[in-house]
Amino acid sequence: MNTNVELTGKIAIVTGGASGIGHAISTGLAKDGALVVVADINEKFAKTTASELEAQGLRATAFQVDVSNSTQVARLVRYTIQTFGKVDILVNNAGIGQSKPILEMLTTEWDHIMAVNLKGAFLCAQSVAQEMVTYGTNGRIINIVSTAAQNARVSAAAYCASKAGLLQFTRVLALELGPHGITANAVGPGLTLTESSARSQLSRSSKTYQRAFLKEVPLTRPGSPSDIVQAVIFLASERANYITGQVLYVDGGYSAGKLSVHD
Ligand code: NAI
Repeated sequence: MNTNVELTGKIAIVTGGASGIGHAISTGLAKDGALVVVADINEKFAKTTASELEAQGLRATAFQVDVSNSTQVARLVRYTIQTFGKVDILVNNAGIGQSKPILEMLTTEWDHIMAVNLKGAFLCAQSVAQEMVTYGTNGRIINIVSTAAQNARVSAAAYCASKAGLLQFTRVLALELGPHGITANAVGPGLTLTESSARSQLSRSSKTYQRAFLKEVPLTRPGSPSDIVQAVIFLASERANYITGQVLYVDGGYSAGKLSVHD
């Protein structure tokens, strides 16, 4: 077991915590000592993840939630407070991807992506922050954005817009919640291949897309979930006490510039 347990005693909610990057974040926070509420729309995977963690002697529980539904989000936060007494860390990780050009996109598809990726993060942050303010927990909100927050991508209009919106939302959270001792930061993964890619929507990106993306990554490899987890743990820890309103791209250098453009 990890001997570095700086999050001992902390209560964390990880949305989309049952698969992919979220699964890794749930595991990482739990290994670092936090009790993790694995909050996911997929109840079966959430329960499996929580059971896996408990089997390792870690503290976790599963909760089914659709983050785009305000009633369900309120229920998640109420459950966490009633059961564990507080929330210290919220990781807004739940997100859905897109691969469709604007000319073909349905309004309902646009609305769905915005509802999960952006409104969902707002609902969770607002509901959790209200409790953090009440309980004075020095809270941490970490939003998982994407390089797509600043690098536009074809066939991903709603996704890019949702992540750019989430990044700016993070900054406003930082401004408004700072006086309450709550920090809000974003982590921006680049192309990240997850162990659970079989059940992951975003990691199922085509090989052609992955090859094209990797040509722009200075470190020449895709990210792994553990790369992302380290950034999340850092921002959740006391080492990041004076950091708020920032985005930390964990993308092998992708967002630094264009490798393919030179003399
Ligand atoms: P994934 O598809 O493997 O996992 C997403 C999780 O969110 C799943 O467990 C799913 O059940 C859950 N979820 C979906 N809709 C939900 C809802 N309405 N309410 C609650 N839970 C819901 O995705 P992945 O790849 O692990 O991505 C996680 C986050 O990282 C997303 O926000 C994504 O935008 C971001 N990201 C991922 C990248 C990648 O290359 N995998 C790159 C950049 C950002």
